[in-house]
Amino acid sequence: MWCLELLLPLLLIINDARCQWNVWVPRDISAMTNSCVVIPCTFMYPSGIRPYRGTHGIWYFGQPYPQLFPPVVFKSRTDVVHESYKGRTKLLGDLNQRNCTLLINNIGAEHSGKYYFRADLGGANMYTYPDFSELKVLDQPNIDVPEEIVSDVSLELTCYAPDNCPEMTPEIQWMYIDYLPDPEISSDFLEDGNTAVLSSTLTFTPRPMHNGQLLGCRVYYPNTTQVYERLISLDIKYSPRSVWVNVSSEVMEGQLCDAALRGGQ
Ligand SMILES: *[C@@H]1O[C@H](CO)[C@@H](O)[C@H](O)[C@H]1NC(C)=O
Ligand SMILES: *[C@@H]1O[C@H](CO)[C@@H](O)[C@H](O)[C@H]1NC(C)=O
Ligand SMILES: *[C@@H]1O[C@H](CO)[C@@H](O)[C@H](O)[C@H]1NC(C)=O
Repeated sequence: MWCLELLLPLLLIINDARCQWNVWVPRDISAMTNSCVVIPCTFMYPSGIRPYRGTHGIWYFGQPYPQLFPPVVFKSRTDVVHESYKGRTKLLGDLNQRNCTLLINNIGAEHSGKYYFRADLGGANMYTYPDFSELKVLDQPNIDVPEEIVSDVSLELTCYAPDNCPEMTPEIQWMYIDYLPDPEISSDFLEDGNTAVLSSTLTFTPRPMHNGQLLGCRVYYPNTTQVYERLISLDIKYSPRSVWVNVSSEVMEGQLCDAALRGGQ
């Protein structure tokens, strides 16, 4: 459809760029261990090429050069794949529609890395696209924590769960928040370049008494036993007090801080 042979030479020139060797994959994609990932992929080849005996494709892991024998993740001609991908991969896309979308199941840390697609149109018309998709396999969710947490100042913590496995939709829970004053939780779904991330933001105002307390984010898939947790400990800085403003500049802030702490006991 994209490579229609256009009658007007002018249009042919304009359209030509879209009919060269091109692939579209997300540059980065992530997945939790033991879940799955779908790498969306579409490709293009020069309009002059007529696939000979079908359109075929190969997914390589690690690097794009077939002469270096990278692990084969998927191969439509033979179904022969590297040991670590046996029974794990499936091409969801229809290669005849130039769709090379790949599913990898039961992901482990060893599957972290770069994935390259190679189109095989028969004869010498084989080409590995230099653009790759880099998979990050996580065994804990990521939490965004501000550089500095200051007491009595509203704090936002955001926890992320990749959502690129259609069969398993993650949920996020915050742990150990019972002692927090008026915690508020909001969730969001972010899509970027064909990949998706679920996030949950916890907002509250920490007090000095929360220093050193643990908080956690739990990502889980309903109806499975898969649970992933990350714990953080709150390292709370005391907010500046008006009394500090007018003291002599020779006194270091740290000493003031200690003094304030001692004074508070
Ligand atoms: C490619 O195939 C996948 C799986 O069938 C589908 O979800 C996706 O929409 C297709 N992409 C395009 C561009 O048609
Ligand atoms: C989990 O299982 C219950 C009962 O079988 C079902 O009602 C529910 O829809 C399932 N939830 C998900 C997310 O699959
Ligand atoms: C501290 O100094 C500022 C000016 O530097 C002044 O406006 C303020 O009133 C002072 N505060 C006290 C408690 O003296």
